[in-house]
Amino acid sequence: MDLKERIATELIAARDRSVGLTLEALEEPDLMAQVSPLMSPLVWDLAHIGNYEELWLLRAAAGQDAMRPEIDDLYNAFEHPRAERPKLPLLTPAESRAYIDTVRSKVLDSLEKVPLTGPLAAGGFVYNMVIQHEHQHDETMLATHQLRTNGPTLLGRSPEDPPAGAPALAGHEALVDAGPFVMGTSDDPWAYDNERGAHTVDLPAFFIDVTPVSNAAYLAFMEDGGYDDPRWWQPAGWDWRTGSGKRAPAFWRREDGRWLRRRFGRTEPVPLDEPVQHVCWYEADAYARWAGKRLPTEAEWEKAASWDPGTGRKRRLPWGDTGQHANLGQRMMRPAPVGSHPEGASAYGVRQLLGDVWEWTSSGFHGYPGFRAFPYKEYSEVFFGGDYKVLRGGSWATHPLACRTTFRNWDHPIRRQIFAGFRCARDAA
Ligand code: AVJ
Ligand code: FE
Repeated sequence: MDLKERIATELIAARDRSVGLTLEALEEPDLMAQVSPLMSPLVWDLAHIGNYEELWLLRAAAGQDAMRPEIDDLYNAFEHPRAERPKLPLLTPAESRAYIDTVRSKVLDSLEKVPLTGPLAAGGFVYNMVIQHEHQHDETMLATHQLRTNGPTLLGRSPEDPPAGAPALAGHEALVDAGPFVMGTSDDPWAYDNERGAHTVDLPAFFIDVTPVSNAAYLAFMEDGGYDDPRWWQPAGWDWRTGSGKRAPAFWRREDGRWLRRRFGRTEPVPLDEPVQHVCWYEADAYARWAGKRLPTEAEWEKAASWDPGTGRKRRLPWGDTGQHANLGQRMMRPAPVGSHPEGASAYGVRQLLGDVWEWTSSGFHGYPGFRAFPYKEYSEVFFGGDYKVLRGGSWATHPLACRTTFRNWDHPIRRQIFAGFRCARDAA
């Protein structure tokens, strides 16, 4: 398949996914409603996806004029925070569909003529950026669905069964020897500006957990009084703990002596072998201290995920440069049990680095040495130095095209609606 065919195929697949999460899933009132001030109405995400595509693929890449300049402001994430989006005069679902369909057919027409050269389009970069953007919003829409408490659930569509796990590996550690590795990338046509450029980082030896922390392990922290002991919490974390009154991951509920969780509108027993999900950074940080460990830095995470000490080369994916051995792309609608996907292990034997749950790291969000915003400051740069922690690895809801060992995500340390868990690390003295 040539590059342009590949781009067209991926644009179409991303749109099928978006439509499945919106127009095919819910009726108009539920698409227009806001389920949480943290999230947009689903119809906002849908039209925003089309508006972003128009901006980058029709105006920037193909030099076309704005189709509907009057709606740009509505779908500019920086003009209107999520909380105020339901009050905007948004396009209805039918109007949104007509708009995104028109944009898309113009994009597929212009793709034939646009040369894939120059800073924006070489390697298909700007198209890759738009494809990833659509998949990122699809994951955000899944978080919105998870917050819904009434009506149709996405679980009706027979998700794939989870594979076998290896719970005996929970808490096992891999040793990553001291030494330099290459962090970031300079030549990946999918990489965002914040992943660039490749630079050498020298790390002391450290241990990192072979699997993410399981629900069983997290329950041990809870049952040991972890939520009530300020020793484990950073001062800001303790303020969050006491101020919010939270004592369990989001969507958990205790009933008749057992823990249940709500997953896409259904209540089920908490599966002990699954990675813990829907915990904020403060909870992850407190658990790690209780366990006598700490969160990995993002450099440690990336070295454990991507470095092959045998060849001295960096891998784009933990298991190599191609193939797919991770629970990604919304196939299971849940994380896979800890220890699953042995064929997806990194060179250091660390499992489940991609997929299942986003993993909180101890690092704030900053640009790499020599950072240059490209192609716009509002993707990454405006968030540098803010109240954010970096997450790595993607979740079960992340599309494989929007995930790799260099990919960086970030969120506020109090956020729990994202599909995030964590694994621990410690110094190898
Ligand atoms: C990289 C996931 C933090 O969803 O806010 C979407 C991605 N940027 N539209 C977000 C993004 C513009 C971003 N994250
Ligand atoms: Fe966006």
